[in-house]
Amino acid sequence: MRILVTGGAGYIGSHTVVELQNAGHEPIVLDNLYNASEKVIGRIEAITGRKVPFYKADIRDEEALNQIFDKEKPEAVIHFAGLKAVGESVQKPWEYYENNIGGTLHLLKVMKEHGCKNIIFSSSATVYGDPAFVPITEECPKGTCTNPYGWTKWMQEQILTDLHTADPEWNVILLRYFNPIGAHKSGTMGENPNGIPNNLMPYITQVAVGKLAKLHVFGNDYDTPDGTGVRDYIHVVDLARGHVCAMQKLAPGSGVNIYNLGTGHGYSVLDIVKNFEAATGKTIPYVIDKRRAGDIATCYCDASKAERELGWKAENGIREMCEDSWRWQSQNPNGYDD
Ligand code: NAD
Ligand code: UFG
Repeated sequence: MRILVTGGAGYIGSHTVVELQNAGHEPIVLDNLYNASEKVIGRIEAITGRKVPFYKADIRDEEALNQIFDKEKPEAVIHFAGLKAVGESVQKPWEYYENNIGGTLHLLKVMKEHGCKNIIFSSSATVYGDPAFVPITEECPKGTCTNPYGWTKWMQEQILTDLHTADPEWNVILLRYFNPIGAHKSGTMGENPNGIPNNLMPYITQVAVGKLAKLHVFGNDYDTPDGTGVRDYIHVVDLARGHVCAMQKLAPGSGVNIYNLGTGHGYSVLDIVKNFEAATGKTIPYVIDKRRAGDIATCYCDASKAERELGWKAENGIREMCEDSWRWQSQNPNGYDD
C-alpha cells in the first residue's frame, strides 16, 4: 500500500518506514526536519536497499500537502509529525497546540479532499493521565493530562473520533505508545535528541558515552517496589512492527480502533540502570534527585488486545532494548551529526 508517513524522518517514524518497506509497502516520507536529520533517509535506504520518496514539508502547509497528495496518491497516512517534549510544552503551549492540533487539522482537510480517509495516529499512554488502574487496558478512561503535549494527544484522538462519527468512511487507528527505547539492530538508526535528553534511556546512553556525568533519578519515594518510577519500555522496532500489523486492520468500515503498544512489563528507573549495566558492561553513576513535576508512579499496559486483534506482540526484551540503544549511541556519539 502507498502510505504517507508524516514525521517519517523522526525516531519512531524512521524505524516504521524500514518495517513498512520490509513488509512490501510503499512509504512516502514527509518531514519538516524540525527534529530530524535528512541523513536518516540514506540510512533507511541502506538498510532496506530500496528508495524512499522524501519531501521536506510541513503538515501546516496545505499547498505543499496538496502537491504531495496529487503526485503520490497515498491510500493511507501514518501520522507521527508533531512536537513531543513534555517540559517544553509547558513553556510553549501555543506552539504545541498550533503545530500538533493545527497541523493535524490541515492534514485531515487535505486527506479528505483527496479521498484518503485511512489514518493511523501516534498517540500516547499520556492520555490515561494518572491511570485509573494498571495494567492499563484500552477501556481505562482517558485521564487528566498534566501538560499541553498530553492534551494535544488527548484532543487529536477526539478530533479523529468525531471525524469518523460524522463520516463513517474514515478508518482510524489510535496507537497508544508506552515508552519506546532501543534502536535498529544495525546501529545506524536511533533516537537523536536535541540538547540534554529529557527521557531516561537517551540520558543513560549519554552518561555511558561520557557526554553527561551522571544520571539524576527523579524521586525514590514513589509507591513502587524500589521507590523509583515504573514504566513499560518497548523496543522501537517492535513498536514499528505494530504499525505494519495495524495497517491490515485499516479496512473499509473498520471505524475507530484503539490499541496499547507496550510489552506489559513494568521496569523501574533502577531496573533500567541495572539492566543497561548488565547488557553493556558500562557503569552508570547516578544520584537520587527530587521528583519531576507531572510524573506518575506507575504506568504499564495490558497489550493483549493488540495481540488478539492485530496478531502483534513485542518480541524484544529489556536486554535487547539496552544493547541496541547502546550500539546506536556508541557508534554515533553525536547522533546524525558528524
Ligand atoms: P520525533 O521528534 O523523532 O519525530 C517527530 C517528527 O515530526 C520529527 O522528525 C519532526 O521533524 C517532525 N515534525 C514535527 N512537526 C512537524 C510538522 N509541522 N510538519 C512536518 N514534520 C513535523 O519523535 P518520535 O519519538 O519519533 O515520536 C513520533 C510520534 O510519536 C510523535 O507524534 C510523538 O508525540 C509520539 N509519541 C512518542 C513517544 C516517545 O516517547 N518517543 C511516546 C508516545 C507518543
Ligand atoms: N527519569 C529519571 N531521570 C531522567 C529521565 C527520566 O529518573 O533523567 C525517570 C522518570 O521520572 C520516569 C522514567 O524515568 O519515572 C521514564 O521517564 P521518561 O521521561 O523517559 O518517560 P515518561 O514516562 O515520563 O514519558 C514518556 C514520553 C511521553 C509519553 C510517555 C508515555 O516522554 O511523551 O512516555 O508514552 F507521553
